[in-house]
Amino acid sequence: MMKLLCGITLLTIAVAHYVYIPLPEQISEPWKLMLLDATFRGAVWMGDVAHWMGLSHSVRVINSAIIGFESLVPITNNEIRVEDTLFDGVSVRVYHPNGKKEGELRRAVVFIHGGGWALGAPKLGSYDSLCRQMAADLDAVVVNVDYRMAPDVHFPVPYDDCVKAAKHFLSVETLEKYSVDPERVAVCGDSAGGNLAAAVAQRIGIDDNISVKFKLQVLIYPVLQALDFNTASYQQNQNVPILYRKLMARFWLEYLGADPDLIHSLLMNNHTALDQSLVSSTRAKLDWTTLLSKRMIKHFKPVVPVTGSPNLLKEVPAFLDARAAPLLADEDVLRMVPRAFILTGEHDVLRDDGIMYARRLEQAGVSVTNDHFEDGFHGCVSVAFWPLHFSVGIRAVQNYIAWLQENL
Ligand SMILES: *[C@@H]1O[C@H](CO)[C@@H](O)[C@H](O)[C@H]1NC(C)=O
Ligand SMILES: *[C@@H]1O[C@H](CO)[C@@H](O)[C@H](O)[C@H]1NC(C)=O
Repeated sequence: MMKLLCGITLLTIAVAHYVYIPLPEQISEPWKLMLLDATFRGAVWMGDVAHWMGLSHSVRVINSAIIGFESLVPITNNEIRVEDTLFDGVSVRVYHPNGKKEGELRRAVVFIHGGGWALGAPKLGSYDSLCRQMAADLDAVVVNVDYRMAPDVHFPVPYDDCVKAAKHFLSVETLEKYSVDPERVAVCGDSAGGNLAAAVAQRIGIDDNISVKFKLQVLIYPVLQALDFNTASYQQNQNVPILYRKLMARFWLEYLGADPDLIHSLLMNNHTALDQSLVSSTRAKLDWTTLLSKRMIKHFKPVVPVTGSPNLLKEVPAFLDARAAPLLADEDVLRMVPRAFILTGEHDVLRDDGIMYARRLEQAGVSVTNDHFEDGFHGCVSVAFWPLHFSVGIRAVQNYIAWLQENL
């Protein structure tokens, strides 16, 4: 009996030790986040072990865990009819709201899911529920793009898939087929999907051959640059779940098909040291000491080594490619993109990616609504539909859908 009690006590302590992590005071529902984080860390750990043993790529293991969890999320808004089809060879799911009136045109949203360009099951659970909710609340046609992901493919394939699907949808014939008003189409994405949505919005914006343009873009805590892994928010939130700073750097290297060992150089900003002439013209586009407010910079200082890893940017030129990192686009391009809603969370390493993009768009004359959540953390929207449903995730979804309701 005594042994059993001791065993249970030790096990409880071990589990509590594994689950407990110190979190910022303002963060929404800390215990739920710890549970979510413990689960996610467990999946990443299993992925790493399987990878190390040569059994499977770590990403596939993590994704199987995600698919398992997503399958448990109950389907909501069942009345929305879904259609799985191909847009110019790219797999998409189209959501049709009910009660079509003859001859009446609808609004539409092209949705691009997140997951570090490697994870996520868009046709299951959270993202499926989110698309159903948009279709129902906005009475809009929603296109959920199931682009190909790492490790099967790398940049620019996911980007190209999203551009193809968007172009196909914006063609006059397709819009007619779905009874969509060409003047009322938005593009929307979260995290890596926000990266792709921003890049697609730029691509469509500058293409003279495309007559129908997006009216709006919604970027939910988007990832927009890989040249500075020491922005104020990267420094402040490096150990805040679930998107740890190191994990974001890993996702970038995987997306760009680069050597995972480069992570050490990235985290030190060795790729953007002062001796890297390739970045000199780019620095101002992500100079957070001028683009952020003093309140957000706090006591953080830029990390700019004097000498770095000279060959890194030559080996992986995509780091400087605005199709991969939309924050690096020139002002001429930014001027052509649609009005934006950018959602950011205070406790997110990507906070400053989103805020810098908001400032740069404003400087280019684009109207921006920056909805900043003081209790927000990365991923809160995609777990809004899980049984844990975080209140900040629900508020974030409500806010951006309300903005679309009013402006689309
Ligand atoms: C537009 O179409 C023309 C002719 O097909 C082509 O040469 C041009 O590159 C296209 N422009 C863009 C931005 O794709
Ligand atoms: C960063 O650059 C410095 C200077 O070239 C070099 O000594 C150091 O090894 C680099 N660090 C990494 C992790 O690549």
